[in-house]
Amino acid sequence: MPETQPRAGEPAERDIPAIEVRNLSKSFGQLSVLNGISLSVREGEVVSVIGPSGSGKSTLARCICRLEKIDGGDVFLYGQKVNDGDHSNKDLSRLVGMIFQQFNLFPHLSVLGNLTLSPVKILGVPRSQAEEQAVALLRRVGLEEKRNAWPNELSGGQRQRVAIARALAMNPRIMLFDEPTSALDPELVGEVLSVIAGLAESGMTMMIITHEMLFARDVSDRVLFMADGTIVEQGTPDQIFSHPEVPRTRQFLQRTLPHYGGDVPTDERKENERHGP
Ligand SMILES: Nc1ncnc2c1ncn2[C@@H]1O[C@H](COP(=O)(O)OP(=O)(O)OP(=O)(O)O)[C@@H](O)[C@H]1O
Ligand SMILES: [Mg+2]
Repeated sequence: MPETQPRAGEPAERDIPAIEVRNLSKSFGQLSVLNGISLSVREGEVVSVIGPSGSGKSTLARCICRLEKIDGGDVFLYGQKVNDGDHSNKDLSRLVGMIFQQFNLFPHLSVLGNLTLSPVKILGVPRSQAEEQAVALLRRVGLEEKRNAWPNELSGGQRQRVAIARALAMNPRIMLFDEPTSALDPELVGEVLSVIAGLAESGMTMMIITHEMLFARDVSDRVLFMADGTIVEQGTPDQIFSHPEVPRTRQFLQRTLPHYGGDVPTDERKENERHGP
């Protein structure tokens, strides 16, 4: 099992945020997608990001991982400014791993090949050690017996668990998830969420973009609600899901929670009882 953080020999970094975003802006052509986002995630913290489609959640995650070039502001990972081009992809891959909705496994490589490619090629880990680690990670996500399978022989839930194991194989200090279960059939969602919940319990620092509101409520230390390229409101799961203060948050939850089987915030329910939905 890979170590999480802190790594032996490194100075105590308790006061340095794992992720710090300052005044981040990003446009695609004329479209302004992120409008001065600032946020910070502590080591060991699990932060969920919720919000309507098109609000900029994926773009935010991609900017943090340097998959998008940012237009303004700064991104720091463990105090290191990663948007100035001084960090190699190798440096970055030790800091943050990202999981996408669409798994993105290498189709021409076996499960084991998917897990060992980057540790061997990018980190220079000896193959035997990379394979040993890969098997341990597959055990952790409940897929040890699939080590020689090909991606197209796996279910969606299994593919996503392999993708999580592959990201962990780089031993990143932070994991970013972008709607890891939204491409899955409903009956496969649980197996992936339970792997992510296990990572949260192990102390992994995580940012999770999700539409699974009940999961976000259970697993998160903090929830950010995004709309129109800004963070509209943030707080504990209880604050956001049960006592949201900003009308935009309440409106979103009112539309979303019943669909996901959750409760509408009490005040909204009273409003609905008075005026109809
Ligand atoms: N590469 C791109 N080129 C042009 N526009 C883009 C690009 N990527 C995203 N956008 C636009 O930026 C806005 C925010 O997109 P983003 O994918 O970040 O939203 P999101 O909150 O993740 O939505 P969803 O919940 O549907 O995944 C959208 O209007 C989208 O069309
Ligand atoms: Mg998205």
